[in-house]
Amino acid sequence: MIRTLRSVVRFRRLEWSLAARRLARAADVGDLRIIAKRRLPAGVFDYIDGGAEDELTSRRNRAAYQRLEFRPRVLRDVSSVDPSTTLLGKRVPLPLVLAPTGFTRIADPDGELAVARAAARAGIPYTLSTLATRSIEEVAGVAKGPRWFQVYVWKDRGLVRELIERARAAGFEALMLTVDNAVLGRRDRDVRRGFSLPPKIGLDTILEGIVHPGWTWAFLRAEPISFANVVGRSVGDGSDPVTLADYINAQFDPALSWADIDWMRSVWDGPIVVKGIQCVEDALLAAEAGVDAIALSNHGGRQLDGAPPTLELLPSVVESVGGRIEILCDGGVRRGSDIVKAVALGARGCMAGRAYLYGLGAAGEAGVDHVLRILDADVRRTMALCGVTSVADLTPEFVRRRGSV
Ligand code: FNR
Ligand code: LAC
Repeated sequence: MIRTLRSVVRFRRLEWSLAARRLARAADVGDLRIIAKRRLPAGVFDYIDGGAEDELTSRRNRAAYQRLEFRPRVLRDVSSVDPSTTLLGKRVPLPLVLAPTGFTRIADPDGELAVARAAARAGIPYTLSTLATRSIEEVAGVAKGPRWFQVYVWKDRGLVRELIERARAAGFEALMLTVDNAVLGRRDRDVRRGFSLPPKIGLDTILEGIVHPGWTWAFLRAEPISFANVVGRSVGDGSDPVTLADYINAQFDPALSWADIDWMRSVWDGPIVVKGIQCVEDALLAAEAGVDAIALSNHGGRQLDGAPPTLELLPSVVESVGGRIEILCDGGVRRGSDIVKAVALGARGCMAGRAYLYGLGAAGEAGVDHVLRILDADVRRTMALCGVTSVADLTPEFVRRRGSV
């Protein structure tokens, strides 16, 4: 008996780092979401996890991936699989871009710096949000990987121009103009919780703080959270708690129109990506406006509830503009197999937001590394199991709608 026992008992190596211990058992992004939910105050988790209104679009983004199945091929020598591709003319190891997310420091004090460092290690482009809580220059100072800058258009165009010039000076390679935020979507979870940025300290938050000591200790020890790109400016830098809806509706310009793309072109000579395209007509207008890429996006279901799931838009948009501009598919990506599906349908790559925020909330920078490793391994494994060795060979024949043949 002792011999049998000895042959099968294996203790896991004891991990001393708490984060490493948490990560050792996180098999997928869903596990990281559960850990993040446990670690973060409810208001912070809900701001990240939630969508607009009934969260139909948020759920349907995911469901669209789940409805799509593979048509794998076999006996095709998959001993060497290469998931690399090019995005905006630059080689990347995976068809993936980290989507811009504001206020990243609410999930972890290092915030955008942690995400940018992890992305740089993996060679994956990181998009810094206008509403970041670490500045353009701070991010450039710690991460030399490919960096894109996301633009929200303030009413004060002088400020936008200044931000674009700072991004250029700091070596950011592309601009991503987000166009689905004319006014902020109504996020019912945030309304119910009275969520503000930075999170307010009240009786309920004190209780939340006691229940989530790891987060609270890190939050209180770090310097205050602010909109780092506009600190000290008249637009308000977020150092006083404000609801996002009040802030965005007061500061961003709802008059934004196609003419502004020409304006952007006049102040930026690098690649421009328009994020938030949701139909063929607008994809065509974007191509005519001469942008380099579009991101099909409904903001992860955080803006217009009832907007179509992005994966379902892909085939018609690829057919109309796929030969002219690059198409990124954004929203609902939680697994590498999702990326493979979108690329098979003609996307140049995917963007992911919540996936890396769950990793960050679960275990800080190491959590983001973990997510990127999972997605990379997923893509390679899925390609191998589909019988595909290169991104160029991933065509629509490898997927089908569930129920079809
Ligand atoms: C976002 N998103 C976003 N988009 C943007 O252009 N600027 C921003 O500042 C933000 N902020 C932001 C915060 C948080 C917490 C989330 C979850 C999302 C939208 C983001 O770029 C992307 O479109 C979605 O996250 C994609 O959906 P998934 O990957 O989260 O399902
Ligand atoms: C959001 C904004 C910041 O989605 O874009 O919360």
